[in-house]
Amino acid sequence: MILSLPTRRATRHLGRALAQALAPGDAIILSGPLGAGKTFLVRGLCRALGLPEHEPVLSPTFTLVRELPTTPRVVHADLYRLGNLEEAEQLGLLEQRDAGAVLLAEWAERFPEALGPDCLTVRIELGPRRALLAGSGPRSLQLLARVAEAALQLRLSAAP
Ligand SMILES: Nc1ncnc2c1ncn2[C@@H]1O[C@H](COP(=O)(O)OP(=O)(O)O)[C@@H](O)[C@H]1O
Ligand SMILES: [Mg+2]
Repeated sequence: MILSLPTRRATRHLGRALAQALAPGDAIILSGPLGAGKTFLVRGLCRALGLPEHEPVLSPTFTLVRELPTTPRVVHADLYRLGNLEEAEQLGLLEQRDAGAVLLAEWAERFPEALGPDCLTVRIELGPRRALLAGSGPRSLQLLARVAEAALQLRLSAAP
């Protein structure tokens, strides 16, 4: 599925569509260049999952992992600075996922094994900004189908 993200509002709506579709234990790989809007998308998604306004969603580039008080619980990670799979595995993302957290991991296409199998990938491209969503197994394909339905209701438009 490819969605057009011409405005920040459209990206917030994609976050809301993802939030409506997610279930505990789902994992999303967020890829795309610096400044694409990965953290911005996480912000919209977490607000839609009930994150209080006073809780900021900061880029975890330096902290690597942040847990957010949403329902279900979100674990937001950034694998940009990691050098190898072992370092990525030490973040404990797999264990968090098994315990029912939703994983939102920027740059996780570098070490997808650290998230376990069957992740949804959301790749944001620039010029013009658009999001490409792809599943990799039964669970993420079901998630993708639910996102597509929610995106339609939120009037997000398909991109060429
Ligand atoms: N349509 C859009 N979607 C997301 N971000 C946008 C959009 N248009 C402009 N922006 C801006 O682009 C920046 C994206 O930054 P950020 O989310 O930190 O990127 P990344 O995490 O991918 O490096 C934000 O400052 C945001 O305000
Ligand atoms: Mg970021």
